[in-house]
Amino acid sequence: MSDTEALRAAADEFLVRYGGDRFDRLFATASGTIVTDDTGREILDFTSGQMCATIGHNHPAIIEAMAEAGRTAIHMFSGMIPQPVARLGQKLAREWMPAPLSKSLIVNTGAESNEAALRIAKLVTGGYEVLALGGSWHGVTGGAAAVSFASDRRGYGPPVPGVHAIPEPNAYRPAFAGATPEASALAGLAYGLAQYDMASRGAPAAIIVEPVISAGGVLVPPKAYFEALRQAADERGMLLIFDEAQTAFGRIGARTAAEHFGVTPDIMSVSKTLGGGLPVAATVTSSAIEAKVHARGFTFYTSHVADPLPALAGLAVLETIRSERLIERASEQGAYLRAQLEALQQRHEAIGDVRGLGLLLGVELVQDRHTKAPDHALGARTTARCLELGLSMNIRRRPERGAVWRIAPPLTVSRAEIDRAIAILDQALTECAATKD
Ligand SMILES: Cc1ncc(COP(=O)(O)O)c(C=O)c1O
Repeated sequence: MSDTEALRAAADEFLVRYGGDRFDRLFATASGTIVTDDTGREILDFTSGQMCATIGHNHPAIIEAMAEAGRTAIHMFSGMIPQPVARLGQKLAREWMPAPLSKSLIVNTGAESNEAALRIAKLVTGGYEVLALGGSWHGVTGGAAAVSFASDRRGYGPPVPGVHAIPEPNAYRPAFAGATPEASALAGLAYGLAQYDMASRGAPAAIIVEPVISAGGVLVPPKAYFEALRQAADERGMLLIFDEAQTAFGRIGARTAAEHFGVTPDIMSVSKTLGGGLPVAATVTSSAIEAKVHARGFTFYTSHVADPLPALAGLAVLETIRSERLIERASEQGAYLRAQLEALQQRHEAIGDVRGLGLLLGVELVQDRHTKAPDHALGARTTARCLELGLSMNIRRRPERGAVWRIAPPLTVSRAEIDRAIAILDQALTECAATKD
């Protein structure tokens, strides 16, 4: 048995299988838009790792941030605030967050940043009821999983009580027949709110929303939907939480989705796109809310809260986005990629819809454009063929969420890499449609 085969066997024998996509090969390196597998084959990474490598894999700025942490400090007692953490809080408030969001809690993962947001909302309001959108994904830890509906919920016992799901907007499949996408989105919200008001025990706390419902099928709500959410939260004394794990820091062609939609939440959680591949996340709120929860004894004391290494990575990512004009690039390259995908849609009947913002795009595969029945079989075959041809993309696996590719390369992706990916997609769709059974 070769070393490569032996390691693959070790992965099978010694690792817990944790769901999602699993490949029969192992992986060795990642640089820019390219990952290589254990045979040395190069693959275009159009998922940016797990949506984190927005500045490209192993960017020199990240390597330097790691080296600087090595020269200064990697980790400290959680009560000691390292200098880079103060710098990151300041930079987020002064350059990236909409006013009045100016106070950051620096943690590690997306789920954690949402746990903190929910805890803050509960402490401020004294309530515990949370509204979340169908199809949403906020993480796998207790509180975050309770408000997630695109993840596996069965078999883990009762979730945190007080969560109410409201219908997610879906412009491709409006829930209210005959309505425009915007009217359907607003009608779904009004319906969901009426159900919640009926069921409420009088303890409202928060509404949590991904500005682009990503794992749920890359659904983009209209601006009016966010305005209505803001109003719904205010009327009920709830805090509005935006989970900007995927949308903050350039991916959608804006600093944040709050800026893009012109609606400011009370709390914003940011994570994946802040760390350039290292685990750093933040829960950001106003100084008024921070003062209130501090007075009530707010605690979120973890082993790695406010650690210097991830904070240095966050600073490096934010500086790189600025110096390489990656927000503008996301808009330009996103428009180019979208135009190429729309051109593919002209040639391939199976592409029912192309949607998204900036470089966060969704492509939905259907058996028939009139019935819009999802084509999961074609999705699975084509995704596998793309990988063989050198393109990694992510497809929704849950049958009820449609067969949707999430296409989100690093913001540093080149035109040549986009052209190559489109050629692979074209070939894979052509071959797989031809062998349809
Ligand atoms: C919108 C959103 N929020 C939160 C999370 C959870 O982040 P993490 O996996 O870092 O805990 C994810 C992860 O996919 C996500 O997409």
